[in-house]
Amino acid sequence: MGRLSALVILAATIDRVDRLRGIEGYWSSQASTFDEEPDHGLTDPDVRLAWAARLGEWIPPEAIRVADLGCGTGSLSVLLAEAGLEVIGVDASPAMLERARAKAQTLGVTVEFALGDAADPDLADGLFDVVLSRHVVWTLADPIAALVRWARLLTQDGRLVLVEGRWFDPSRGSAEGIGMPWDGGVSAEDLMTALHPLFERIDHHPLSDDTALWGKTVTDERYAVVATEPTTTQAT
Ligand SMILES: C[S@@+](CC[C@H](N)C(=O)[O-])C[C@H]1O[C@@H](n2cnc3c(N)ncnc32)[C@H](O)[C@@H]1O
Repeated sequence: MGRLSALVILAATIDRVDRLRGIEGYWSSQASTFDEEPDHGLTDPDVRLAWAARLGEWIPPEAIRVADLGCGTGSLSVLLAEAGLEVIGVDASPAMLERARAKAQTLGVTVEFALGDAADPDLADGLFDVVLSRHVVWTLADPIAALVRWARLLTQDGRLVLVEGRWFDPSRGSAEGIGMPWDGGVSAEDLMTALHPLFERIDHHPLSDDTALWGKTVTDERYAVVATEPTTTQAT
């Protein structure tokens, strides 16, 4: 390798480490209160049941291996493990992962939780029946690159399940923004446009009216997209 190439790789690595450190700092500061939202902690049995039912609709019974990218406190990872799936959860925040591991232990399920970059995880291509990510793409520095990478993780029959929303408009001066391209969330229309080159089929599931999922009434746009027939998978 030439000296210039080595320097370019080094610069990219330093950039990635810096970026992950920023993500880690922000989300670790949220970890202690994160599960207080009903849809985060899933401590209300009705909310938990509502998520289990939706995941059961989106994930086919023959699925075995799931990657939960940006798994946070692991609520969905654990729910899927309870349903018998083999789950690996990846997150950049040790504080979030600590809670995720404790949750799995309390419920007596096995989930592999790994510290890492959800946007470009250290996972093999073509291995996952399902790549799941909830409320994460809006936090990413390059969400399109992440979607491309996630599509490549899938088996030929695999599917990408994204649960997302458009919660606020950062141009209106909200203090909640974290300065990313999809700050405030991404509309289903924009997310589906980004997914179109990567999948033959994309199904949109509006979720705003399903109060059981959120434990309250919501007025913003919330939805899932389930993308199947990836065009970019590795041969398995
Ligand atoms: C809004 S939380 C969602 C957590 C979880 N998916 C859920 O629905 O409960 C966003 C999570 O994504 C993680 N995250 C954001 N960007 C990440 C990245 N590039 N690599 C790893 N984790 C990331 C954060 O640490 C945080 O735990």
